[in-house]
Amino acid sequence: MGFPKGFLWGGATAANQYEGGWDAGGRGPANSDVITNGDPKNGRMATRRLADGTVETVTAMRPDPLPDGAVYDTAPGHYYPSHQATDFYHHFREDIALMGELGLKTYRMSISWSRIYPTGLEETPNEEGLAFYDAVFDELHKYGIEPMVTLHHFEVPLALSNAFGAWQDRRMVELFLKFCETVFRRYRDKVRYWLTFNEINNLPFGFLASGMTRFDPQALAQAAHHQFVASANAVRLGHQINPDFRIGCMLAASRVTVYPKTCAPEDVQAAWEAACRNYFYADVQCRGFYPSYQLQYYKRQGIQVQMEPEDAQILRDGCVDFISISYYRSTLAARQQGKQSGDPLNLGEPNPYLPCTEWGITIDPLGFRIVLHNLYDRYGLPIMVVENGLGAVDTVAEDGKVHDPYRIDFYRTHIRAMKDAIELDGVDVMGYTPWGWIDIVSAGTGEMRKRYGFVYVDMDDTGHGTLARSRKDSFAWYKKVIASNGEDLD
Ligand code: BG6
Repeated sequence: MGFPKGFLWGGATAANQYEGGWDAGGRGPANSDVITNGDPKNGRMATRRLADGTVETVTAMRPDPLPDGAVYDTAPGHYYPSHQATDFYHHFREDIALMGELGLKTYRMSISWSRIYPTGLEETPNEEGLAFYDAVFDELHKYGIEPMVTLHHFEVPLALSNAFGAWQDRRMVELFLKFCETVFRRYRDKVRYWLTFNEINNLPFGFLASGMTRFDPQALAQAAHHQFVASANAVRLGHQINPDFRIGCMLAASRVTVYPKTCAPEDVQAAWEAACRNYFYADVQCRGFYPSYQLQYYKRQGIQVQMEPEDAQILRDGCVDFISISYYRSTLAARQQGKQSGDPLNLGEPNPYLPCTEWGITIDPLGFRIVLHNLYDRYGLPIMVVENGLGAVDTVAEDGKVHDPYRIDFYRTHIRAMKDAIELDGVDVMGYTPWGWIDIVSAGTGEMRKRYGFVYVDMDDTGHGTLARSRKDSFAWYKKVIASNGEDLD
């Protein structure tokens, strides 16, 4: 049986990590543009330096609330990886030609909101920004590649963070809809697949993921609600503008792939609870209402989400057409004193049965099959895998090439697991877009040496290098996989 005909083999990136051209073509600064590269702590989450008026060093994940009168800004003497990133802005024709050579059927990318509305507050969009994406979509179609566009991938106009802490404020709902309406109308006939919020359950990644400036549970719950309403509004409007649009949500599925550390029922419950703190985001977007377990959880935590009278209807009418996911790993949970289950910033304990990457990420292909099966049973919606991949250090060998059998192994085992989910479990998987099909900067650490791509980009952790593109061994391998529709994985 194998992969269905028309399976969407592709590649994925996001503007904040790939596009660069941060101040070109009238673009305004985004939250990502004031985040410096950081020193990875324990090989895990990085501490980044953000600059406010006094050039303080704070973490990009969960900085303290912004003091009165302070703003986030760039500061001289620091390196900001998003400014150049790996410069899709100036290389897009060359890069899309490589996508064509690879045989991609789809390319998942994000539109940078501040390229279209530099502060988010303008009445009219930035024409130069719109024209840039026109050129990108036209180029993709030249090679028969279907764009799949994320509307919000860890990026908001910086002005909105500084003005009112972005998603913690209800004003974001209308501003986001204005942005969506502009791009939906403009690209009505060029883009069919849209995703609303990248890894919506990673909202607690604070300033980095959502541009928020407060991180208490109340602010996070309120911000999640604003994103739910914004997502549902976008789905409704998108379908009005073009009934052929297919609009999905996006869940970090690693966070619902939680195993109990032991078979003690307390550990099983801890694992289930940790997963529920994440499932609930997709529950709202796929089912159109808050699950009762989450409402009870909020009650127990003393959290009161302010909802407007029209919100319930908006959520009901704005259910997504499909669910998209990222999957990198599984985690362990145990009921332990003082440990908060489901803490999004916690990678959990290592699983003794599984290998780990250099960054402490478990490698668990079977977990991939399990979560695909779970999500399909839960929602009955087609699943698009829009992120999966291995962050690894690549070295250029004496022959000038990158030989990356470890990456091929990772993809081989994960693609097999996905095939099993389709063939053995009957899951409806629409497609698969490996993360960072070309090297881009890491979202979690700002590093360049944590590479995911089939294409190597000559650039180091401080942005130095020629930016020349070259094919790794995995490039030819993935090309063969696509050409055989997933049959030839050797
Ligand atoms: C996902 C994000 O969380 O994981 C991407 O959607 C990110 O933006 C990817 O790049 C991999 O994480 P990292 O930290 O290795 O870049």
